[in-house]
Amino acid sequence: MTEAARPAPAPPAPAHPTAADTAVPLPEARTGDRPRPGAPATVHHWPVDHLDALDFDPLLHRLVREEPVALVRMRFGEGHAWLVTRYEYVKEVTSDPRFSRALTVDRPVTGMTPHNIAPARGIGRTDAPDHTRLRRLVAQAFNRKRAAALRAETEAVTERLVDDMMDHACPADLAGHVSGPLPERVIGKLLGVPRGDLGRLQQWRAVILSTDASPARSSTVKADIAAYFRQLADHRLREPGDDLFSELSAAQAAGALSRPELVSLTVMIVLNALDQVRNQCTNMVYALLTHPEQLAALRGDPGLLSSAVEELLRFVPQRNGVGMPRIATEDVTVGGVTIRAGDAVYVSYLAADRDPAVFTAPDRLDLARDEAPNLAFGHGPHYCLGAALTRMQCHAVLSTLLRKAPGLRLAVPPEQVRWRRGTVNRGPQALPVAW
Ligand code: HEM
Repeated sequence: MTEAARPAPAPPAPAHPTAADTAVPLPEARTGDRPRPGAPATVHHWPVDHLDALDFDPLLHRLVREEPVALVRMRFGEGHAWLVTRYEYVKEVTSDPRFSRALTVDRPVTGMTPHNIAPARGIGRTDAPDHTRLRRLVAQAFNRKRAAALRAETEAVTERLVDDMMDHACPADLAGHVSGPLPERVIGKLLGVPRGDLGRLQQWRAVILSTDASPARSSTVKADIAAYFRQLADHRLREPGDDLFSELSAAQAAGALSRPELVSLTVMIVLNALDQVRNQCTNMVYALLTHPEQLAALRGDPGLLSSAVEELLRFVPQRNGVGMPRIATEDVTVGGVTIRAGDAVYVSYLAADRDPAVFTAPDRLDLARDEAPNLAFGHGPHYCLGAALTRMQCHAVLSTLLRKAPGLRLAVPPEQVRWRRGTVNRGPQALPVAW
C-alpha cells in the first residue's frame, strides 16, 4: 500500500447518539494539522432512525441543499466519514478511480450496520482491474439470449401471480402474492437455485440485511450462505444447467475467477435480488395508490409506463442510510472541500435523486418528468448489475396490474400499512390491496 493510500487514523467514536442529526463541533485534533479549505466544522450524528412509509430522511433532505459535502457519524464503526449528496458531486466521486472500494476491506468505517454486508472479496469491494474482470464475466454470462428468456419468464410468472392473487379472497397482500414471489422465481431461474432452497436463502438474507443482528450471528449466516453456494458450484460443475451460475462455475474451473470471488459475487446477487426487487415493486405500487392523480394519468396513458418506472425509481427512498463507502487514495477536492487521502467517503444516491439543482420540485412525484437520469442504481464502474432485471420486473408488475386490476386500491388507510424495521432496505411488511 502506498503512503497516500494508507488510511488516516480514525478519531474515537462518541457514545451512541439518540437524537437524529446532532451536529457537534469538530475538535481541532480531528481536523489534523494540514489546512482543509472549506472543510465543515461539524460532524452530523446520523443514527438512521426508522422512517415510515416513503418519508424522506430529513438529514439527507437538508444536506443536499445546505451542505452537499458533509461529515457524518453513524451508529457503528469508528470515526466519521464524508457524505456527498449533490447529484453532480455524487457522479464525480463514483466515477473517480481515486476513490477505492478495495481499501474498505478491514477498515471499520462508521456505518449503519454492526457488520459489513458486502463480502470482503465481493464485487462491490474490489477496484480495477479485478473489478473489471468480474464485471466482464457476468456480462458475458448474462448475454442477450439469457436476458430475452428471463424477460419472457418474468412476464409469464407475473401474469400467473397476479391471476392467483385475484383468484384469492379480496383483499390480498400484494407483497405476499406478487412482488415477493416474483424475484424468487426470477433469481431461481437466473442462478438455477432449486425452488425448495429459497426459504433458507430468505432466512439468511433477513439476518445479513438486518441493522440489528449481532456481528457473530451475521458471520455465522454469511458462512452458511457461502457454504451453500460452494456446494452448489460443485454440483453445477458435475451437472451444468442453462443458468448464469453454471456458466460462472465453469469460468471459475477454467481459472477466470477464484472460488471466493464466485461465491461472493453470487451472494451479492442473491441478497440484492431477493430483497430490493420485492421492496421496490411494492413501494412503487404504494406510491401510485397514494398519488391518485398520478395513477389516473398512467391509467389514461399506458405509454407513460417507462417514464413512470424511472420517476418512481427516483422518487422512492428504497433504502435506509447509505451503501458502501469508498476510501480516497490521494487528496481530492469535491465541491470545494478537500477530502484527504485515507478519508472514508459515502455518496447518497437517494439524496442526489432529490437534488433541487437537477430536479424541479424534487419531492413531488411527477410521472411525466423528463429532466435527468435517476441514480437509483448508482453510477460509474459499480453501477448496479441488476438494473435491467429490476426494471424488467417492476415494469411487468405495474403493467400487469394496470391491465388486470384497473380498480386496484389500498384495502386499508395508508397510515395502517406496517413498514419493515431494523433492516437496510425499506418496504411494507405487507401491502393489503383490493380491486
Ligand atoms: C430496486 C432494486 C435495486 C436497486 C435500487 C439497486 C441499487 C444498487 C446500487 C445503488 C448499487 C451500488 C452502486 C455503487 O456501489 O456505487 C448496486 C450494486 C449492485 N447491485 Fe443492485 N440494486 C437493485 C437490484 C439488484 C438486483 C436485482 C441485483 C442482482 C440481480 C443487483 C446486484 C447488484 C450487484 C452485484 C452490485 C454490485 C456491482 C459492483 O460493485 O460492480 N442489484 N445496486
